[in-house]
Amino acid sequence: MCGIVGYIGHREAYPVVIKGLKRLEYRGYDSAGVMVYDGALKLCKTKGKVVGLEERALKEITTSGTIGIGHTRWATHGVPNDVNSHPHLSNSGELAIVHNGIIENYAPLKEELVKRGYVFHSDTDTEVLVNLIEEVQKKENLKLGKAVQLALNQVVGAYAIAVFDKKNPVEIVAARLGSPLAIGVGEEEYFIASDASPFIEYTSNAVYLEDGEMANISLRKPIKIRKIKDDSLVDPYIQELQMNLEQIEKGGFDHFMLKEIFEQPSVIKDTYRGRLHADKGIIQMSGIEDNLEKFLNADRIIIVACGTSWHAGLVAEYIIEEFARISVEVEYASEFRYRNPIINSKDVVIAISQSGETADTMAAIKLAKEQGAFVFGVCNVVGSSISRESHAGAYTHAGPEIGVASTKAFTTQITVLTMLALRLAKAKGTLTHSDFHRYLLELELIPEKVKEALGTIERAKEIAAAFKDAPNCLYLGRGYNFPVALEGALKLKEISYIHAEGYPAAEMKHGPIALIDEQMPVVVIAPKQGHYDKIVSNIQEIKSRSGKIIAVVTKGDTQVRELADYVIEIPETSDALSPLITTIPLQLLSYYIAVYRDCNVDQPRNLAKSVTVE
Ligand code: F6R
Repeated sequence: MCGIVGYIGHREAYPVVIKGLKRLEYRGYDSAGVMVYDGALKLCKTKGKVVGLEERALKEITTSGTIGIGHTRWATHGVPNDVNSHPHLSNSGELAIVHNGIIENYAPLKEELVKRGYVFHSDTDTEVLVNLIEEVQKKENLKLGKAVQLALNQVVGAYAIAVFDKKNPVEIVAARLGSPLAIGVGEEEYFIASDASPFIEYTSNAVYLEDGEMANISLRKPIKIRKIKDDSLVDPYIQELQMNLEQIEKGGFDHFMLKEIFEQPSVIKDTYRGRLHADKGIIQMSGIEDNLEKFLNADRIIIVACGTSWHAGLVAEYIIEEFARISVEVEYASEFRYRNPIINSKDVVIAISQSGETADTMAAIKLAKEQGAFVFGVCNVVGSSISRESHAGAYTHAGPEIGVASTKAFTTQITVLTMLALRLAKAKGTLTHSDFHRYLLELELIPEKVKEALGTIERAKEIAAAFKDAPNCLYLGRGYNFPVALEGALKLKEISYIHAEGYPAAEMKHGPIALIDEQMPVVVIAPKQGHYDKIVSNIQEIKSRSGKIIAVVTKGDTQVRELADYVIEIPETSDALSPLITTIPLQLLSYYIAVYRDCNVDQPRNLAKSVTVE
C-alpha cells in the first residue's frame, strides 16, 4: 500500500506534494514524509498523518524548491515511527527514495551491503533498496536511471518508486512492478503519483506505467520509458483522465464515506447507463458481447476477490446460478492463488476489485491465465492493473471511492454482475421472457429505491446511538441477504472496531446462538421476499433468548415489527435484487456507530484502501 507523490516543474514542489499526499492518505496513514531540493536537500518525516507532517515541516524546513517527492505510509517492514518513514536517503545522503510495495529479498541484499560497509538506520526494506541503487551507481559510475534499473533487476518483490539524485537535481526516476504509478504530464511540469488524484487540478493528461517499466522524468528531455528487464524503449501512451476535482472532494459531507453512500443512486445509474435498455428488453456490455461464447461454453465460473468485493462475488454466485444456471464458485483470491486449484481452459474467472490493484486478486488472475482460463475483470478504477491484466471486463463506473470502507463499490459491482447474469440468462433462455423483462424494469428502478432507503438515515442514527457501546454484534441473513449480513458485519468492525460477525441465519443454531443474551444486538435482514417465514422463525429464536433485534424489513411489515426491538423499513424489491437495497441501512448504521464512537471513519486504524501487498 502506501502512497507516493513526486513533482518536477516550475511550481513550488512542497505544497504540490503535501496536497497530493493528503489525497493519497486513503492508501495508508501511519507516517508521512517529504523531500524537496532547492540547492540543498530538505527532508522532513514523521510518524502519523500528513497534517502532522505539515506542522513539523513548518518548524523544520523552509523551501521554495521546484522538485520534490513525498510518501504516506502503511507499514509493512518496521513499525510506524519517524525513522522508518519515507523518504529514505542513501548512506551518502545523495539519493532519496519513496517506495510503495515490498522488497521480499531485502534481507540477503542488506547483509551484502552491510559487508560492504553500509549502515542502516531504519528497519525498512526501502532503505536497503536506496543503498543498493547507490552501491550499483558508485561501482560503475552510472547515471541514476541505469543504476535504478540494474538494482531493480536484483530485487524480488513489488514496488512503485520515485528516486531523486542530488548530483543531477533535474530528474526523478520512477519505476513500477506490482504497485500502481501514474505520471501526470503538464506544461513544462510532471507529476508522479500512486493514482491521478494528486494532479487532477493541474493536468488531465497521464501516462500509466505498466508493470516492469521505468521512466526518466526530466524537464530537459522528453519523458523516456523503458522496460526494466531488457532496456527496450516503450512509447509513452498519454491518456486523458476521466476523473474531476469535484469527485475527489467531500462536497459538504462530513466524511467521504457518507458522501459515497449518498452517491449510490446516481452511480448505480451510471453503472447501467448505455448498457441496460429496459424499454427495448436489451442488456449489452461490450466486454460480454465480444466474449459471449466463452461464458456460454464455460463449465463453470470462478469468482476471485477480497473483502467487500468477495461479498459482491457471493451475491453474484446466487444470481448467476439462479438466472443463468451456470455453476459458480467464489474464492478468496488469497486462498485461490496458493492452493493449487484445478483450472482449465473452459473456466471463466471473474475478478472483482474496486481498486483494480489488490495484490492477491492480481496474482489469482495471473495464475488462472497461465492455466488457460478466460479472465473477466470487474473493476472500478479505469486503467488499473487488474483491468489491464484481464482478457475483457466491465467497469463499474462508481467514480473514485476514497473512504477506506467500501460502499458504492459494492452496490455497483452487484449491478454489473446482475447485468451479466441477465445477459447470460437471455442468451441461454434460462429465464422466461416475462421474468427477464421484469428484472430489467426492476433494475432500472433500483436508484429510486436506494434513494428511498437512504431516507432511513434518522432511524440509523437513533439505533446507532442506542448500540454504540455494544462490544459485539451479530448480523444474520438468508439467501441473497446472507452476503449482505457478511458485508454489514465487515463495515461495522472495520470502522467502529466493534467485533461483528455475519452468518446465514439458519447457521445460528449451530453455534453462534450461544452468544445471544440481553446484551447482544442482532441485525437481521428480513425483507418480505425470499425466505421470510424461515427468518421470522430465526427472529423468534433470538427473541426467546433475550437478544436485541434490529430488523431490516420491507415497508409495511407487521410480523417482524411485533418481535423486533427496532425495525428499519426499506422499499420492496424482488429477492434477487434486494441486496442493492438492504445493504443501504447497514452502511448508514455502521457509519453512525463509528461517528458516535469518535472513530476516524474515512481512515480506520490499520487499514488502507488499496492492498497492493499480499
Ligand atoms: C472493505 C474494503 C476491503 C476491500 C478489499 C478488496 O470495506 O474496502 O475489504 O473490499 O481490500 O479491495 P478491492 O476491491 O480494491 O480489490
